[in-house]
Amino acid sequence: MSDITLNIDGREVKAKEGMTVLEAAKSADIHIPTLCHNEMLEPYGGCRLCTVEAETRGRTKLVAACLFPVEADLIVRTRSETVDKIRKLILEFLLAHAPDSEKMKELAKEYGADKDRFPKSSSFCILCGLCVRYCAEVKQKNVIAFVDHGAKREINFIPELAAQECWDCKECFPLCPTSYLQAAYHLTHALAFPTLKLETAAKA
Ligand code: FES
Repeated sequence: MSDITLNIDGREVKAKEGMTVLEAAKSADIHIPTLCHNEMLEPYGGCRLCTVEAETRGRTKLVAACLFPVEADLIVRTRSETVDKIRKLILEFLLAHAPDSEKMKELAKEYGADKDRFPKSSSFCILCGLCVRYCAEVKQKNVIAFVDHGAKREINFIPELAAQECWDCKECFPLCPTSYLQAAYHLTHALAFPTLKLETAAKA
C-alpha cells in the first residue's frame, strides 16, 4: 500500500491507500464523532454523524468519514458551519429516541442540539446496528436482527437463539450507545425464555 498525503483541518496527514478519512484523522489525533462505527466491525455508514467536508479537484462534497477513502491531495474539513449544522440535526433526530443516553447528551452539548426539537419516539434504538453487526461479524451467531420498517424499525433478539447464546456472552451490551439493547434483552428474557432451566436463567 502506497503512502498518500492529504490535508485534514489544515494539517498535512500521511495515510495508506485504502484507509478511510476517519482512520487517517485518527492516526493524526484529529477527532471525528461517530455513533455507528467500531474498529472491530466492517464500516457501516448508518448514522452519518461522522459527516465531513471533502474537497477534491476544486469540488466540495459532504461524505461519511467512516466510509470515504483517502486520496492524494484530498482536503478534509472535520468542522465547518455546514458540518456542525448537519451533526446538530442528526443528533436532534436521534435524541427523540434516546434523550437520556449519556453519550447522546455529551454530543448534544458539543453541537448545541435541542433534545426536544422532534417529538419523542417510542423506541430508544438509534439504529446504529452495532449489536446486530457485532453478533453477526464477530460472534457469528446472528442472534439480533433489525425488525420492521420506517419509523418502527428497531432491533430485536431472536428468542430461540438468545436463550441458547446470550446468557454467558452479552459482549454487545457495552457497544450500545443508548442502553436500548439491555432493555430489549431483558424483555426478551422475561417474555420468551420460560422454558429455560432455572440455573441458566439465574446467570442471565
Ligand atoms: Fe460514520 Fe456512523 S460513524 S456513518
